[in-house]
Amino acid sequence: MVGGAVEPSVIAADPAAALGDPHGRHPAPLIRAGLPSDDRALRQLAHSSWSHVHNPMPAPSPLSEPFFNEHHQPDDVLVAEIDGEIVGYLLIGRPYPMETGSHVRQIQGLDVSPRARRRGVGQALVRAAVREMSERGAQRVTLRVLGHNRSARRLYESEGFVVEGTLPGEFVLDGERVDDVLMGLRLPPRVQ
Ligand SMILES: CC(C)(COP(=O)(O)OP(=O)(O)OC[C@H]1O[C@@H](n2cnc3c(N)ncnc32)[C@H](O)[C@@H]1OP(=O)(O)O)[C@@H](O)C(=O)NCCC(=O)NCCS
Repeated sequence: MVGGAVEPSVIAADPAAALGDPHGRHPAPLIRAGLPSDDRALRQLAHSSWSHVHNPMPAPSPLSEPFFNEHHQPDDVLVAEIDGEIVGYLLIGRPYPMETGSHVRQIQGLDVSPRARRRGVGQALVRAAVREMSERGAQRVTLRVLGHNRSARRLYESEGFVVEGTLPGEFVLDGERVDDVLMGLRLPPRVQ
């Protein structure tokens, strides 16, 4: 995949990807694996959608730091496109380097462009990611979400994630103590 010479693999461009928009008013996003050439668009998207509602990290710098790094390569990213424009992404990671936690994958980032929200893009990304992680052998998917991020929490809950723990007052954001909520989803073992 690295090198950008191959076609992006389409992970979901079928009616199932449109389930987040049950009324069919918006085009279904195409969900595909990330490409090295997506770096600039993803950097800009991460910057334009950043806020302390969903991210305890400082705002990303749009041009100085590449989106892809040693933690996240293009293969770890799902990208959502509408009409050829990148409108969202989801980062998949392994939370543990050792074998004992190799059955666990983690959603380590999710962003939908502010002007493309409430059109089923986030839902399509989460569904495609869960499918992809299951195909890669995961039996459990975890994530962390800020307690006050109601939209993301509702999205994850609607996809079957449950709250598994809370770190109370874990971050101080804009002078307020904010909980960090741990959520998880158990995947059925795959039939080989
Ligand atoms: C959270 C986020 C990814 C949702 O993406 P989206 O494309 O707007 O979500 P969808 O349209 O797929 O919504 C799916 C479901 O999520 C819930 N949801 C999404 N946005 C919501 C909102 N603003 N208020 C309440 N529920 C919301 C709803 O249950 C919705 O289903 P419905 O539209 O049938 O009611 C998006 O708001 C975003 O990028 N936020 C900033 C980044 C962020 O919070 N990332 C998560 C970090 S853990």
